[in-house]
Amino acid sequence: QVPRKVRIVEVGPRDGLQNEKQVIPTDIKIGLVDGLSASGLRSIETTSFVSPKAVPQMGDAAEVMRRINRVPGVSYSALTPNAKGLEAALALNVSEVAVFTAASDSFTQKNIQCSVDESFDRFEAIFSASSRVKVRGYVSCVLGCPYEGVISPQRVVEVTKRLFDKGCYEVSLGDTIGVGTVGSTARLLEECVRSGIDLSRIAVHFHNTYGQALANIFCALQFGVSVVDSSIAGLGGCPYARGASGNVATEDVVYMLNGMGIETGVDLQRLLEAGKYICDHLQRQPSSGVGRALGGK
Ligand code: HMG
Ligand code: MG
Repeated sequence: QVPRKVRIVEVGPRDGLQNEKQVIPTDIKIGLVDGLSASGLRSIETTSFVSPKAVPQMGDAAEVMRRINRVPGVSYSALTPNAKGLEAALALNVSEVAVFTAASDSFTQKNIQCSVDESFDRFEAIFSASSRVKVRGYVSCVLGCPYEGVISPQRVVEVTKRLFDKGCYEVSLGDTIGVGTVGSTARLLEECVRSGIDLSRIAVHFHNTYGQALANIFCALQFGVSVVDSSIAGLGGCPYARGASGNVATEDVVYMLNGMGIETGVDLQRLLEAGKYICDHLQRQPSSGVGRALGGK
């Protein structure tokens, strides 16, 4: 039984753009977020308050947050790795923040310079703020790690439960390097169910490196998962996961869900326009089958 409605969390302005080598003008980022807001998306991960030495592309987080046109009812969230990021994000009135750790110590070490255990210490200030601001949790490498290879579902469950215990309202399971298949996705979600995790509070976050993302999402829907992360035009990658390609494209997810009669509240035409806007700027074709087939006006 698949859900009747799905909430799409658009991560393009953050996950999509963070890895771009060329400097993207702040105005273009703002134009993208505004275009995405106009498409009916209700959750937009807008930027990240991380070290600009680590991810220079997100160095204009404050200005982006300050100047976007906030549509009532839309959540504009940001990644925050520590207290410093939280303070900056709260000062800009973000709608929600997200902490990010992993089911792999090696990946966490490369990504945020600490172990998984230590990452929870750094998140403490953020968890303590969860009565004031919604906190989302990310677990990376849930279906494989670029450094450690196979990751056990039990490890993912353990980290996920810890994030819930600390007050995250939702945990997004990230297939950071896009190696997952329907088989491994099902095994992971089965383990979540067995361990008592409420799948209505789980989001799935698939990168499409191996072209498996839509199939994996379809699999997750059958488990009752109803929150899907995706990136406009399939932009993205992770700077700390070599070879990781973009997230599954939002256009492709919306097209699939439309075909299944699942409500998203998103206008595909408007979405295509937002995709075309950013692809024109980047001078590249969208990594979205639907985007290439239908284009945007
Ligand atoms: P560190 O070196 O341990 O941090 O890095 P530190 O506290 O020692 O500080 C080092 C410097 O960074 C200092 O500046 C701090 O002020 C500054 P300096 O004194 O050298 O001039 N700094 C900050 N500046 C701005 N905002 C902050 C901040 N914190 C420290 N919040 C740290 C640790 C976490 C800061 C660093 O490694 C970092 O920023 N990493 C970001 C990594 C990142 O953004 N990765 C991509 C996002 S995760 C992802 O894509 C996966 C996901 O999509 C899910 C999936 O696909 O699996 C979510
Ligand atoms: Mg990601």
